[in-house]
Amino acid sequence: RKRGFIFDLDGVIVDTAKYHFLAWKKLANGIGIDFTEHQNEQLKGVSRIESLKKILKWGKVTLSEADFNKLMAEKNTNYLSYIATMDESEILPGVIKALQYLIDKKQPIALGSASKNSVEILNKVNLLNRFDAIIDGNAVTKAKPDPEVFLKAAQSIHFSPENCIVFEDSVAGIQAANRANMISIGIGEASILNEADVVFKDFTEISTDFLEKLLSVTKS
Ligand code: BG6
Ligand code: MG
Repeated sequence: RKRGFIFDLDGVIVDTAKYHFLAWKKLANGIGIDFTEHQNEQLKGVSRIESLKKILKWGKVTLSEADFNKLMAEKNTNYLSYIATMDESEILPGVIKALQYLIDKKQPIALGSASKNSVEILNKVNLLNRFDAIIDGNAVTKAKPDPEVFLKAAQSIHFSPENCIVFEDSVAGIQAANRANMISIGIGEASILNEADVVFKDFTEISTDFLEKLLSVTKS
């Protein structure tokens, strides 16, 4: 029995939200806008371009296209300086065990992430070779909650959507998985991810028995 397993990256495999926070805060404060942890929460799963649009809206700031693009580039340069220090120790608890279980069972695994830095990050934490396909921000034109990223990920591992299982930490990502007609597994707070088919706090709560059961489920 086989299913297609699709993993989001940020917040599921690694906790990069803290680095996004530092980089967005520096950018926002630099143009006189406050930026809180609470606002950072609302940027989870949101593409880089949409994130900057939201921050400008919150701060009631409008920019020329040239300045907008300059800030986008600066944000990423700053973010990449944090990514540069990452290593295996930043892989979230239970993730390697789950990935290894699926690999041992010969299940295909794809990445479905909004990030344009996914290969860089997976390389840093030494997980790139565990994925059969990488579909990320460079491969899609529509951001989550649009299902494009997950539909492309399913195609890349040759599975129909209803036989795919998505692990996601963001509300937009859970909605994208549901719209793609895939099984959505939330990683985080059940009260926030209430649209998911099932929610776990983190991968340490996901048993190998549960993963085994997923091999015979189909989204209905
Ligand atoms: C998502 C993150 O995975 O990727 C967002 O949750 C981020 O916070 C988005 O903005 C885009 O990432 P990047 O690395 O291309 O700026
Ligand atoms: Mg995420």
